[in-house]
Amino acid sequence: MRKNIVAGNWKMNKNLQEGIAFVEELQVALSNVDKINCDVVVGTPFIHLANVSAAINTGLIGVAAQNCADKESGAYTGEVSAAMVASTGAKYVILGHSERRQYYGETDAKLKEKTLLALANGLTPIFCIGEVLEEREAGKQNEVVKAQIENALFNLSAEEFSKIVLAYEPVWAIGTGKTATPEQAQEMHAYIRKTLAEKYGKEVADNTSILYGGSANAANAKELFSNPDVDGGLIGGASLKVETFLPIVQAF
Ligand code: 13P
Repeated sequence: MRKNIVAGNWKMNKNLQEGIAFVEELQVALSNVDKINCDVVVGTPFIHLANVSAAINTGLIGVAAQNCADKESGAYTGEVSAAMVASTGAKYVILGHSERRQYYGETDAKLKEKTLLALANGLTPIFCIGEVLEEREAGKQNEVVKAQIENALFNLSAEEFSKIVLAYEPVWAIGTGKTATPEQAQEMHAYIRKTLAEKYGKEVADNTSILYGGSANAANAKELFSNPDVDGGLIGGASLKVETFLPIVQAF
């Protein structure tokens, strides 16, 4: 059965010391929780990955990079490969975040390469999809999301695809304080699962974790996560402090 996952995405926040202090605090807080009903992940900047991974000694927290290169290795100044990410102890990589698509020109074609390299290096991609406001207003959200999945992921075999985690992040809800309603989230997640079932069959679709992202917080997480097709969250702003992140973990 699919896993519930609550993953933080720190984006470009926290220096190294703050990052380490966060995971140390979160680890203590999690070990005091009776039962944790989801996997907990923190998505840190590249340069924090090794130290943050080393600071986690309980197995209670997984570490994610926020990106990786679309090339294996070589003369690509400033890039960080999937193999490098894996060598730090990180187990996940967030790919296709709308901020990467919007500000750094990441195309479906590039994301396809990144996904293959992430999988080849044993990383679990947390693959982001989602429509912008104009697309939702035009009623095109389903076709936009379907195309993002088809173009970047449907080259994968069913076995490869079963290693992917999806994160539906409507761009109009990211950092805006405007959350998709639980109904909007459920409707899209069910549509995504149906799309996966058509391509890979019901079993793969049922086993894929689909997270929601976009102004999720302690106040709305429970209601969002109570939907049958919402398997957790990818959390931006509210993942930056243990006091705001932990209650989201505990929403499961
Ligand atoms: P916010 O939770 O700050 O809206 O960010 C969501 C997000 O982009 C997570 O990847």
